[in-house]
Amino acid sequence: MNNDNKAKYAFGMVGLGTMGRNLLLNMADNGFAVTGYDKSEKMLQFFEEEGKKHDLKGFADIEQFVGSLQSPRTIILLVPAGAIVDSVILELQPLLAKGDIIIDSGNSHFTDTSRRYLELKEKGIHFFGMGISGGEEGARFGPSMMPGGDKEAYAVVKDMLEAVSAKVNGDPCVTYIGAGASGHFVKMTHNGIEYAIMQLLAEAYDIMKNGLGYDNNQIQQVFEKWNNGRLKSFLMEITKDVFLVKDDKTDAFLIDVIKDEAKSKGTGKWTSQVAMDVEMPIPTIDAAVTTRNLSKLKNLRVELNEAFGETEKIKADADFIEDLEEAFYFAMANAYAQGMHLLWKASIDFEYGLNMAEIAKIWRGGCIIRAEFLEDIYQAYQKQPDLQHLFSDKNVQAKIKKSLKGTRNVVTSGINAGLGIPCFTAALTYFDTLKTGRMASNLTQAQRDFFGAHTFERIDSEGIFHADWNKNL
Ligand code: 6PG
Repeated sequence: MNNDNKAKYAFGMVGLGTMGRNLLLNMADNGFAVTGYDKSEKMLQFFEEEGKKHDLKGFADIEQFVGSLQSPRTIILLVPAGAIVDSVILELQPLLAKGDIIIDSGNSHFTDTSRRYLELKEKGIHFFGMGISGGEEGARFGPSMMPGGDKEAYAVVKDMLEAVSAKVNGDPCVTYIGAGASGHFVKMTHNGIEYAIMQLLAEAYDIMKNGLGYDNNQIQQVFEKWNNGRLKSFLMEITKDVFLVKDDKTDAFLIDVIKDEAKSKGTGKWTSQVAMDVEMPIPTIDAAVTTRNLSKLKNLRVELNEAFGETEKIKADADFIEDLEEAFYFAMANAYAQGMHLLWKASIDFEYGLNMAEIAKIWRGGCIIRAEFLEDIYQAYQKQPDLQHLFSDKNVQAKIKKSLKGTRNVVTSGINAGLGIPCFTAALTYFDTLKTGRMASNLTQAQRDFFGAHTFERIDSEGIFHADWNKNL
């Protein structure tokens, strides 16, 4: 269909929920001609009300919506991940022409994005999987965005994306991520790191509350102090504020009346699943995913708490809170390092061609895992673009070394007190194993060969060997 005479909008959005509306308003504020499509009259009404300043109009009819867009038509989808994305694409397809661009900005699974990319490529339609981070505020005032797919289509949206994105030192928090589904892969990994940092904050809270007996005000003050130093980050900032909020139904702090069962939409789990597939260890992220699942076993936890009793208090000296800051720094560094390591491997296995420094750079602002520490990560990959692991960087090494003593004290104190601190513990055991020159895995190989003739390699000669273990007993 060709409606160029009526076409007046440069960009269209399918899905006018809060995220979609906010992103469109952000685009309109930046001078772009935008419109939206949503089946819900209510959403269209909100959109027109909130966009009064720009005289924004939306469509409830998909043909009219597509017809109102200039060529190449550039359509952003902000609808729930999964089957809805496929059904929207199916509706759009007959109305589109070769060269048009669809950008899926939801948290889609990267394998769905690969499939959609190939299906639409056959029809001459460009498809982008683009992760967006920053929540509702980010979408409205500057998110971090991770677009991956056709490079020539990126040229069409580059200026708009750079204009609406968050900025750090004037640099936009968006870049062309790479081929195929790389945009969604990188956003998924971002969320895996997000799960780990959130769980580490929860464990630090648990240590202070149940290990040290701190009240909410004391805990708030510690997080506030940390946020003024090297641990400064978006998640630390909102966490310190959580402890200030009173419940409006009772006299309690709101945090104390929230049920201790954490929900999730799946991106953390996907990160762990694919890490297993590509054989990349990311145990700090895995522990965060597992801990959300543990939290859901409320009845069982209460029953076993009665059977096994309470935890003990930590026998803390005056420096313990400083040690906890070091442990947080150490474990946080492990979470980022594992996420980056996964990206390094995915880039090879899936031929994404990722630029690791650019990824760290666009995560410095706008997104949920933005943090002071990302500057160190950015510098490390800028110095050495093919760096396999963040811990091979000399600057990071020096900082990690300094935080080790405090970390060991916190982890052992927490374990001795009987606290569940899976993410802190996973970070330390990952690190200790990773720095082991000769692991005990020779025994695993011996066992495999003993019971299943699975063979082994030797340290002193090339080749594959098998021993008759029973004969040599
Ligand atoms: C972001 C967030 C966003 C969303 C999470 C929540 O970067 O803006 O990651 O995508 O809030 O997906 O995930 P869970 O519901 O799984 O915690």
